[in-house]
Amino acid sequence: MVVLSGSNSRLLATQLAETLGWAHHSLETRRFPDTEGYTRIPEEIIDDVRSEPVVLVSNTFPDAGIIETLLMLEAINDVRSGKMENLREIGPQQLPDVGPGILLAIPYFGYSRQDKRFKPGEAISARAIGQLMASRCDGIVVFDLHAPKVLEDLPVPVAFTSAMPELAKHLQDTVAPDFILSPDKGAIERASEVARTINCQFSYLEKTRIDAHTIIHKAKDLDVDGKKVAIVDDMIATGGTICRAAEALRSQGAIEVHAACSHGLFTGGAIARLLRYVDGVHATGSLSNPRDVISGGPALARGVNQLMETLEWKN
Ligand code: R5P
Repeated sequence: MVVLSGSNSRLLATQLAETLGWAHHSLETRRFPDTEGYTRIPEEIIDDVRSEPVVLVSNTFPDAGIIETLLMLEAINDVRSGKMENLREIGPQQLPDVGPGILLAIPYFGYSRQDKRFKPGEAISARAIGQLMASRCDGIVVFDLHAPKVLEDLPVPVAFTSAMPELAKHLQDTVAPDFILSPDKGAIERASEVARTINCQFSYLEKTRIDAHTIIHKAKDLDVDGKKVAIVDDMIATGGTICRAAEALRSQGAIEVHAACSHGLFTGGAIARLLRYVDGVHATGSLSNPRDVISGGPALARGVNQLMETLEWKN
């Protein structure tokens, strides 16, 4: 198979290709002066795109990533179905259809957080983006999705994969924590998996979000006196969740506090804010960020392999 990427996930695409021993090619992507996107499959890789199944690695974040992903899928679909006609009459104008074989691997699934309708009339954004992507590929791999349930009914198979094994190994090697904390109930599954892998204590906090910048945690006794603690979450955005959890840990005697996540959004000065509360911040490169210390390649590779086992066209 061949790994392809556009402008926003090149690093993860190369890590995936390296993990699986496959070739990686970049598609041409650029912006017109009015900011609209342009996408093209370079002529020299058209044979590769047609001769074997492909995995496109692309984020649906920020908004421009959604359009770029759609345009790349559109171009890949046309090339694989043999629609080559072009005004300059370059190359053959029509080729045989090579059939299904397009996987989309999404390291950071933008809009994943609106996975429910809280008030009447709201769009369930995660489902809308999922359906849009599913309309142009044969299967999707999603990496540490906030709430996987929302993508369970898509018309193509979806493989959910996670970087928690690599995150656990990284924490074990660099921090050797005594205690793993989930900062809210939503991260319990992920964080407890890390605690099991490291074989250390685990607990969680109950969080109430007042608004995007205000977090309250219910008071809870945590057995962290004199201990090194790592807080594990799927994503860090403003850093508010982690800062409040770190305060609770420090006030109960934790001697070292680290924050680890799959997706480092780090919005609006989050890193500087976080470093006032924690001793280290650790993330994967699912989004380009200054704390990218954990490879996402192995997790994406597990997802691709899992998907390949379920796809009929492959057998
Ligand atoms: C929410 O439930 C997520 O798992 C994260 O805890 C949240 O998105 C982090 O956001 P922030 O860093 O802005 O507190």
